[in-house]
Amino acid sequence: MKVITTIHELQSNIESLKKSVTTIGFVPTMGYLHEGHLTLAKEARDHNEVVVMSIFVNPLQFGPNEDFDRYPRDVERDTALARNAGVDILFIPNTDDVYRGKQSVTMSVKERVDVLCGRKREGHFDGVVTVLTKLFHLVQPTRAYFGQKDAQQVAVVDGLVKDYFFPIKIVRVPTVREEDGLAKSSRNVYLSQQERREAPILYQSLKKARESIMGGEQDPSVIMRNICDMIQEHTSGKIDYVELYSYPELYELNRLEGEIIIAVAVQFKQARLIDNIIISVEPEEKLNV
Ligand code: PAJ
Repeated sequence: MKVITTIHELQSNIESLKKSVTTIGFVPTMGYLHEGHLTLAKEARDHNEVVVMSIFVNPLQFGPNEDFDRYPRDVERDTALARNAGVDILFIPNTDDVYRGKQSVTMSVKERVDVLCGRKREGHFDGVVTVLTKLFHLVQPTRAYFGQKDAQQVAVVDGLVKDYFFPIKIVRVPTVREEDGLAKSSRNVYLSQQERREAPILYQSLKKARESIMGGEQDPSVIMRNICDMIQEHTSGKIDYVELYSYPELYELNRLEGEIIIAVAVQFKQARLIDNIIISVEPEEKLNV
């Protein structure tokens, strides 16, 4: 595995690779790697000749009161983990190289952002698409891998590649979970012991919602209320949102039909946790057959 820290070196490596290689799989991350990230890397390894992973804690996607400064970092450990996962090129650029002075053109996401995390994290997805546009141009991947854990991010990136004709296939990889169901996240380390015990309730409430939809519940507001009740009753966290939309468009639904996402965000003392499930709901007529 090659560790590359400058844009210049990455460009010359990609340029020479492109002469002999037809598929590049790309896994963008902010590091502090866990099983979730590594699953994306393994997925990329299985389907591409070359695997590039980036580690870059992107300042542009953090709000002023968010955790940019204390975002966990451990490059040495990450390097070993990436090597084990079969990554060929690990790209770890520094901020000054990625953002060279003032940006003369900025990006602003217009759709799929006024809901879920986008509503409260103003500018967050502008920062995400900005850095991904830079990285996509540098790496020139055939496929780019994203976790369903951040389903809104996948929806926004899907919009980005479609609108701007990036010749890249976006692959959505299912959320990787701890044994008790908690979605793996770099931010889980901020949970107190008590909160860590409570946190699996998020996924349990989503699974329960899936069961009740499969059992015939059709009213989104009932589903959302039941999730809120369960989280409020069993955790000390404060619910940030419980929402249900079509996926990936993220439109509100009066009836449960088609591909839908149910997503939750809960603020614990030092960590805000998110989780979601995406379900295919057959139209009613078919269910009744
Ligand atoms: P980061 O939070 O490091 O996540 C990198 C990738 O890992 C994302 O696609 C995310 O959805 C995926 N991921 C995280 N936890 C996961 C889990 N438990 N199961 C499956 N996949 C998981 O997301 C970002 O970084 C940034 O916004 C980035 C795309 C790198 C742009 O800066």
